[in-house]
Amino acid sequence: MIETKYYGEFGGSFIPEILVPTFDQLVNAFNAARNDPSFWAEYVDIMSTYSCRPTPLTFAENLTRYFGGPRIYVKREDLNHTGAHKANNVMGQGLLVKRMGKTRVIAETGAGQHGVATATMAAKFGFECTIYMGQVDIERQSPNVFWMERLGAEVIPVKDGTRILKDAINEALRDWSANMDNTHYVLGTACGAHPYPEMVSYFQSIIGKEARKQITEREHRLPSRVYACVGGGSNALGIFSGFLDDPVELVGVEAGGKGLDTGLHASRLASRDAAIGVAQGYKTYFLQDSEGQMRETHSVAAGLDYVGVSPILSNLKEQGRVRFESATDTEVLDAFSLTLKKEGLVPALESAHAFAQAFKEAPDMSREDIIIINQSGRGDKDIFLVADALADPEWRSFIIKKAEEYKNSKK
Ligand SMILES: Cc1ncc(COP(=O)(O)O)c(C=O)c1O
Repeated sequence: MIETKYYGEFGGSFIPEILVPTFDQLVNAFNAARNDPSFWAEYVDIMSTYSCRPTPLTFAENLTRYFGGPRIYVKREDLNHTGAHKANNVMGQGLLVKRMGKTRVIAETGAGQHGVATATMAAKFGFECTIYMGQVDIERQSPNVFWMERLGAEVIPVKDGTRILKDAINEALRDWSANMDNTHYVLGTACGAHPYPEMVSYFQSIIGKEARKQITEREHRLPSRVYACVGGGSNALGIFSGFLDDPVELVGVEAGGKGLDTGLHASRLASRDAAIGVAQGYKTYFLQDSEGQMRETHSVAAGLDYVGVSPILSNLKEQGRVRFESATDTEVLDAFSLTLKKEGLVPALESAHAFAQAFKEAPDMSREDIIIINQSGRGDKDIFLVADALADPEWRSFIIKKAEEYKNSKK
């Protein structure tokens, strides 16, 4: 190995021997790109012409009035092409793939957002594309599967294990070991072996750079707190990176699922249920039992439903630099509904975790405070889950009618 990296005791590079040359190649390509100012310029150019950067910072005037506390701003990552911050990472990795001369990309996906983003990037750059997705996630996010296939990607259902994100990652790693000559693995979050945590946060840092500039231009001061949801940790690290050296409180919000005391959640850093371990190439806090077996996780938001978390965030927790909280499914759905009604914003259920925690704390903050909530993605993809959770009768009869039409059609 030419290079590995730890954040405190977390991170590292625990990979099979066979993948070492591929990781070396990736580390070299990433380091060369990072040291070449024209690479970041090329990245910013493609993000502003193909995606929607800089994304706006929206003042949530009605929510601010409603809580009577801090001035609430929302960083609009939902306005990226394909509807989430995932675009920042995949386009960056796509540019690296071009530099490395590879022709095929593979990815894992949970909510499907990263899969759609990768398939989009592959279409744009002309790469062959295979996406691994747990069977459970396929069932709860079929619109995203539909779009990945339309974009020309092959979607492979993963039926091993608990059939969610961690199982999809294992399958993608297996594919990579067999096809590394022409294939790059586009990991979707700031987890995994070095250089992924660093590389993914590097591309996502565009969120924090913009947010810091936007808030200081508008308010002439820094926010008191910044909130972001935490799945693997990439959108949180992206926005937090803009404020890490400032006296700004950073709050990461994990999936509290049905409640921390039920065991049905995905809170690695906000609960006491996780322990330090090594899996999927890196060392971090994992939700595991006393024998090191990964536990089942639960969240209404597929993108937060993961056993591990970025080693960079585990270290920031140990250092006391980021506070970790959790929001339950019920709190998240309430925050989602309130945000729609008050602001006309449609956060992804993942992002609604950050809103939920901010709403819990806003009533106790002063009018002098400013907070920023990172809206990591848009919630259109969640229509089935939200309609079910709200037991919307009209939606239900629409789906039943549509199903009848399919049953009776000749095709
Ligand atoms: C909209 C959205 N937000 C957040 C996440 C969580 O990922 P991360 O913690 O890497 O930002 C996902 C993952 O799929 C997502 O789709």
